[in-house]
Amino acid sequence: MKMEKYDLIILGGGPAGYTAADRASEGGMSVALFEGRSLGGTCLNEGCIPTKTMLYSAKLYEGALKSEPYGVKCGVATLDHGAVLKRKDKVVKILTAGVASKMKSRGVVVMSRRARVTGKTGDGYAVTDGVREYVGTRLLIATGSEAVIPPIPGTREGLESGHVITSKEALSAREIPPLLVVVGGGVIGLELACYFHAAGSRVTVVEMLDKIAGPAEADVSKILLGNLKKRGIEFRLGRHVTGIEPGKSVITEEEVIGADKVLLAIGRKPSFDGAGIENIGVRTAGGAIPTDERMRTNAPDVYAAGDVTGRVMLAHAAYREAEVAVNDMLDIPDAMRYDAIPSVIYTNPEVACVGETEESASAKGLSVKVVTLSMRYSGRYMAENEGGDGICKVVASSDDGRLLGVHMINNHAAEIIASAAMMIDLGRPASELRRLIFPHPTAGEIIREALFALE
Ligand code: NAI
Repeated sequence: MKMEKYDLIILGGGPAGYTAADRASEGGMSVALFEGRSLGGTCLNEGCIPTKTMLYSAKLYEGALKSEPYGVKCGVATLDHGAVLKRKDKVVKILTAGVASKMKSRGVVVMSRRARVTGKTGDGYAVTDGVREYVGTRLLIATGSEAVIPPIPGTREGLESGHVITSKEALSAREIPPLLVVVGGGVIGLELACYFHAAGSRVTVVEMLDKIAGPAEADVSKILLGNLKKRGIEFRLGRHVTGIEPGKSVITEEEVIGADKVLLAIGRKPSFDGAGIENIGVRTAGGAIPTDERMRTNAPDVYAAGDVTGRVMLAHAAYREAEVAVNDMLDIPDAMRYDAIPSVIYTNPEVACVGETEESASAKGLSVKVVTLSMRYSGRYMAENEGGDGICKVVASSDDGRLLGVHMINNHAAEIIASAAMMIDLGRPASELRRLIFPHPTAGEIIREALFALE
C-alpha cells in the first residue's frame, strides 16, 4: 500500500495542534492533523470557551440582581439554564467551524480520527489511523490532558452512575443540582462554582489547602474568597474528601456534606495513551512529555506542545509552544519562555496574574519592592463597580527596577493583564515603563499608577 507522506504529522487538534498546523503550512510545510473529536480540543469544546460563555450569562444575571445601586430596576431576573446551554453550544459550534475553515484554507489535511505512531522508517515516522498508513518527516505530539480522578472511595461508582462528574459533564449538564459539592478550589472548581451558584445550586467547595485559587497571590486569593463567600458559596478549606457516597454525600474528616452531584476539579494530567510514543522511544517524566526550550522531545524531529508537556496547562501557553516548535522546524531561531505567561480565573470578580509573587521572588533569592493599590484609584473601576474591593499588586526588582509580577482582582483583570505581561517580557525598568500612555478612564491605568507608586 502506498503511504501518504507529510513534512509534519500532528496528533491532536487543540490549541497547540491547530496553531502548529496553521503556522507550519504558512511556512510551506505539508501538514496532516489527526483529531478524533471536534477540532479545538478541550479549550473550545469542553473548557475555556463553554465556561466563559456560561459565566457571562451568570455575570449578566448577577448584575441584574444587583442593579439598583446603579439606578436600574430589573424586576424579577431569572437565569434560564437551558437557554444558556443552547447559546454555549452555538458559540462552540461557530468557533470550532472557524478552526476547521482555517485549516482548510491553509491546505492542512485534517483526519477526523485518532492516530498512533508505529515506528521509524527510513523516510520518517510511521503513523496509522487504522485505515491507512502515513509517514511524517516530523511529528508534533499535542494530545492534551484529562481530568485527574482521585482514588477516593466511591468515586468510580459515582462516575459510572453520573453522581460524580468532571468539568466536561458539568458543562453540558441539563439539570441544576440543588446541592453541588465541588472537590478542589482551583481554577475549574471556582469558575464552575460561580456558574452553578448563579444558576441556583447550593454550592460547597472542599479544598485541601487552606487557601483557594492555588498559586494565586495570597491577598488576591483572600479577597476572592471573601467575595465568593459573600455571594453565598460555601467553603471548607484545609479538608480532604475521604469518601463519596454515590447519590448522597461527600465525606470529609469532619463532616458529611449532602450532595446531589459531586464535581471533581482536582487538576488535570497530560494524556497520550494510545499515541504510540513508546514505539519511537519518546521519553516521559512524571506522566508528561518533557521538552527543551525549543519544544523538542528526546527523539529527533519529534516535538511536543500544549498540556501534554505538563508545564503550563493554558491554551495561550500552548499557542506559543506550538509556534516555537514550528519555528524550530523551519530553522527560525526561537525559544519558549515561561516567565511572562498570564493566567486568569474567570470568577466574578476576575483574578489575573503574571510573573512573580513576593513569595516566589524571595524563594528565588530576588530582592523586590511591592506596591498594592486599591482598584478604587481607577476612575472607571469606581464608575462601574459599586462597593468593589479589587486590588492590583505589583512586584518589581529592587536591583534594577524591572517589573517581575502583577496580580489583580477586579472585573476587568483578564483584559488588562496582557499589558503587564508585555512589560515583564520587555524587561525594562519601571522608570521607563511609566512613559507608556494608557487611555483614560480605564481600569488598566492602575498599572501605570502602580509604576509610579513603586518609587
Ligand atoms: P487546579 O490545579 O487549578 O486546582 C485543583 C485544586 O484541587 C487545588 O487547589 C488542589 O489543592 C485541590 N485538591 C487536589 N486534591 C484534592 C482533594 N483530594 N480534596 C480537595 N482538594 C483537592 O486544577 P483544576 O482547577 O482542575 O484545573 C486544571 C487545569 O486546567 C489547570 O492547570 C488550569 O490551568 C486549567 N484551566 C485554566 C482555566 C483558565 O485559564 N481560566 C480554566 C480552567 C482550567
